[in-house]
Amino acid sequence: MLTPNSQVPTPNSQLPSPKSQLPTPNSQGPSPNSQGPTSKRLAVIAGDGIGKEVTAEALRVIRRVGEVFGRTFEIEELPWGADYLLETGITIPPNGYDLLRRLDAIFIGALGDPRVPDNRHARDILLGTRFELDLYVNYRPVKLLDERLCPLKGRGPKDVNFAVFRENTEGLYVSIGGRFKAGTEDEVAIQEELNTFKGVNRIIRHAFAFAQEHGLTKVCMADKSNAMQQGHALWQRVFREVAAEYPGINATHYYIDALAMYMVLDPGQFEVIVTNNLFGDIITDLGATFQGGLGMAASGNIHPGKTSMFEPVHGSAPKFAGKNIANPIGAISSAALMLDTLGWTKEAAAIDAAVMKAVKENQVTSDIGGTLGTREAGEVIAREIR
Ligand code: NAD
Ligand code: IPM
Ligand code: MN
Repeated sequence: MLTPNSQVPTPNSQLPSPKSQLPTPNSQGPSPNSQGPTSKRLAVIAGDGIGKEVTAEALRVIRRVGEVFGRTFEIEELPWGADYLLETGITIPPNGYDLLRRLDAIFIGALGDPRVPDNRHARDILLGTRFELDLYVNYRPVKLLDERLCPLKGRGPKDVNFAVFRENTEGLYVSIGGRFKAGTEDEVAIQEELNTFKGVNRIIRHAFAFAQEHGLTKVCMADKSNAMQQGHALWQRVFREVAAEYPGINATHYYIDALAMYMVLDPGQFEVIVTNNLFGDIITDLGATFQGGLGMAASGNIHPGKTSMFEPVHGSAPKFAGKNIANPIGAISSAALMLDTLGWTKEAAAIDAAVMKAVKENQVTSDIGGTLGTREAGEVIAREIR
């Protein structure tokens, strides 16, 4: 199992202390579905590479939302990432998950750095937070804003508008397994896929409930139950059982390979897709290309009613790092998703509208056909919020 703190040396006394810098933790947790107080406490982990640059733009937009809508954000910027690991030997401090849990939401840029080839800081910070905070819903909207951004011939916004719900706390990501005789020709490497009734049931139920709440009528589950006849038989069983409770929803199934094919061929048939952790990871990079590329895609790692974490779908794109060329829209749209989840729907809608206007006017970065840098693209969107 993941033991994020087992290799961590002595706690670093310079780390932010939630007790000294933050208001008293609310034992009830945040109240994500109400308009709530006018202030929210956010943890921000900019992370590595372009994560730092796109996070700066998401924060610019969040601050602007605060000014325009009379909201305040208490922002706890956490230095965790590759630089921090290389300086201190620490991926996430021992109190790290508790610190995050006490805040209203978490925003992450991206984690991943060639100097940390085993990616252990991303495992502890990103996957560790998903597991430890039990953020079982990975919500990844695949929404095309403008036809010119879509690489699929003849497809426009009406064809590309669906939600992917990726199971986020189990599957092949749990790191159960091991390597025997590593580095030899006798090496055996085992990585188990964990599928539990609880885990499968709650993500499938979430997908159906989302469809119903949003007036949608189609939920498609994707697995590989033709080959993975143990774990994915559980997905089949639970999907059938839950679907039976939603007679108004057309529940369909594709094997994941066919789903990938149909996503390209006819994306308009999908409204809600639900799948496991690894398949959801893969198909949302594919979905991002329909939106204009990885720079456009947003995501939320959510446990309904509890502190949740928001991040663009993309990674740290080392080759773009520090060059002011990364597209900040995935990060900015993830900030909108965060505010929406916190119940600040008007604020979230204002961000989405500003992003849409920037896209329509081509006031964007070069990956989607504009001429602006990361900062300038962020400034345009921030200015549009009013
Ligand atoms: P990546 O998403 O970082 O980049 C792949 C390519 O997509 C880039 O080279 C670039 O061409 C394009 N791209 C990505 N984001 C963009 C943006 N904002 N604007 C414009 N173009 C963008 O994927 P990768 O190269 O496979 O991974 C790099 C590192 O990031 C690895 O260490 C990986 O583990 C990590 N990663 C982290 C996260 C995360 O923190 N959530 C997600 C994915 C990958
Ligand atoms: C994502 C990323 C992560 C994942 C990596 C960095 C571990 O690709 O959030 O999509 O696979 O979940
Ligand atoms: Mn991914």
